[in-house]
Amino acid sequence: MRVPIVAGNWKMNKTVAEARDLVAEMIPFLRDVQGVKTVFCPPSPALLPVSAMLQGTDIGLGAQNMHWEEKGAFTGELAPAMVAEFCQYVILGHSERRMYFGETDETVNRKVRAAQAHDLIPIVCVGETLDENESGRTSEVVSRQLSAGLQDVDPASASRIVIAYEPIWAIGTGRAATGPDANRVVADVIRPALEKLFGAQTAQAIRVLYGGSVKAGNAAEFFAQPDIDGALVGGASLKADEFVKIVYVARAEVLKGGA
Ligand code: 13P
Repeated sequence: MRVPIVAGNWKMNKTVAEARDLVAEMIPFLRDVQGVKTVFCPPSPALLPVSAMLQGTDIGLGAQNMHWEEKGAFTGELAPAMVAEFCQYVILGHSERRMYFGETDETVNRKVRAAQAHDLIPIVCVGETLDENESGRTSEVVSRQLSAGLQDVDPASASRIVIAYEPIWAIGTGRAATGPDANRVVADVIRPALEKLFGAQTAQAIRVLYGGSVKAGNAAEFFAQPDIDGALVGGASLKADEFVKIVYVARAEVLKGGA
């Protein structure tokens, strides 16, 4: 049984004061939700104060990026040990990092291995552009991102890795993939690629989230899919009521025997 994850990627939004307000609003509704793992991924300055607020709850905390080196002259970067001080999760290889900050499958791979070495659960993002999608290259692109991004990863802890399938054309556009289409990519491309890397048992244990314009109104469509194990939510994670609703939709699907 894969416990679904609903993670909020706040991206570059919310000051510490705003982050505290948002978290305070959501905690009463999310602190004891069973059967679904909720994760907040605020910007770096909010990690320390939010981690203190989450003490005693079941809500997880994640960073949005980190460097792979242990420490040193890497101005502006966060070391794995700094992230691991407060977080259990770290988003790696988000398409915005790949697009605007030059991340490659190779740097994602270094980061995944560094996360494993520090007992952090990496949420590894993959997904194709609109152009790649329309020219029928989704499978090729996503397979490559996985085989290169996860190469030489310790197979013993590979089942802890989380994958987020985020088609780039669906991010922040209001144009989500359909549930069945997203499920098809997960079932036909992502799990087979994971099986090739880690074997069938581990491939079945790894959680694969969908991301891209997920809202309370369309979340059930994704959570009802057999191969989708939750969501990585951007814009809708910045509104307390909307994000809480998404977690509750995931919970309702678990009770129905879906997600
Ligand atoms: P939106 O939910 O705003 O489309 O963003 C998705 C995303 O990039 C989450 O990582």
